[in-house]
This record gives sequence, structure tokens and C-alpha cells, in this order.
Amino acid sequence: MLPAYVPNPTAALFGGGIPIDFGKSFPDRRRILGDGKTYRGLFFGVLAGVGIGLLQIQLSDTYGLVGLPRHTLLSITLLAGGALLGDICKSYFKRRLGKERGEKWPIADQYDLVAGAFMLMLLFDPSWILTYVTFPVLIMILILTPILHRVVNMFGYLMGVKEVPW
Ligand code: CTP
Ligand code: MG
Repeated sequence: MLPAYVPNPTAALFGGGIPIDFGKSFPDRRRILGDGKTYRGLFFGVLAGVGIGLLQIQLSDTYGLVGLPRHTLLSITLLAGGALLGDICKSYFKRRLGKERGEKWPIADQYDLVAGAFMLMLLFDPSWILTYVTFPVLIMILILTPILHRVVNMFGYLMGVKEVPW
């Protein structure tokens, strides 16, 4: 799951600049996505997710780590891209609900990346997800994701990277 977990914190670290929605509003007069979704965040986030995935592939090729999922360029790209696509879709619906940038939206804020990553995987590499994300693995992911999310965001807040600790 690392290629899906790394893009969000990376986007928070290196994001900024031109927003993906170019500052445009929806007919409801609220922003389409908001200033929290930028091209730079998307670019560096996916880059970092794919980078960590390439490292995982390299390591498992070198050390032949048995039992761990075998990643491919496709699987890591789908996990990394899907994570931020999920985050973008979440922000779209968050704005439609009238929630401001950075406002809390429990469950959606925590699981957007998992939903996006799994959606892309199911669409473009279903055999990977069906092979490796077994029921116990899925349960582990559902338990670990909000914990990691909380810890990393707390850390980002204390570092001054995130404006809110969630
Ligand atoms: N970020 C970015 N580009 C992205 C995703 C995130 O630049 N595609 C950066 C933004 O600086 C953002 C920060 O990472 O403020 C934290 O991301 P997130 O919590 O997803 O955004 P929020 O600011 O909370 O906005 P939203 O309410 O839309 O989730
Ligand atoms: Mg947020």
C-alpha cells in the first residue's frame, strides 16, 4: 500500500501554486475543487508514490522477498494515481456539500485514497487486487489507514506543513 500512502503527505509537502480547477467555481458558486488541490501536489505526489513503488520492486527483485505482493509499474502507478484521484473526487463532493477547504469530513477524509486506489486497480489491474488484497488484508488496511492518516497529519501539523491536524 506504500505507493498509495506516500502521495498525500508528499502533496502536502510540495503542493501549492496553480489549483487544478484554475480557481474556477461550480454553478453552485462554490469552488469546483478548491485551493487545496494543485497541479504541483498532484505531480510530486504521484512521482513520489511511483518512486517508492519502484524501490519496492527493486528490493523484492534483489532480496526475493517471499509472501509480499509483486508490484509492477502498472500496479504502483494505479495505486499512486488512484490515491490522489480519490482525494480530488473527495474534495469535489466536499465542496458540493458546502464544506470549506480543510474542513473535517470524517470517513471520507481517511478513506478517499483507499477508495480511489482500489477503484483504479479494479478497473485496470483487477487480478493484482484480487490476488493480494484478500479479506484479512482488506481488514488490516481499513484499520491501519485512519491510524496512519491521523499520525501523519498530526506530524504534518506540528511541522507547520498542514494547517489543521486532520
Ligand atoms: N495538496 C496539493 N495538491 C493536491 C493534494 C494536496 O497541493 N492534489 C496540498 C495542499 O496544500 C493541501 C494539502 O496538500 O492543503 C493537504 O491536502 P488535503 O488535506 O487533501 O487538502 P485540504 O487543504 O484539507 O483540502 P480539502 O478540504 O479539499 O480536502
Ligand atoms: Mg483535508
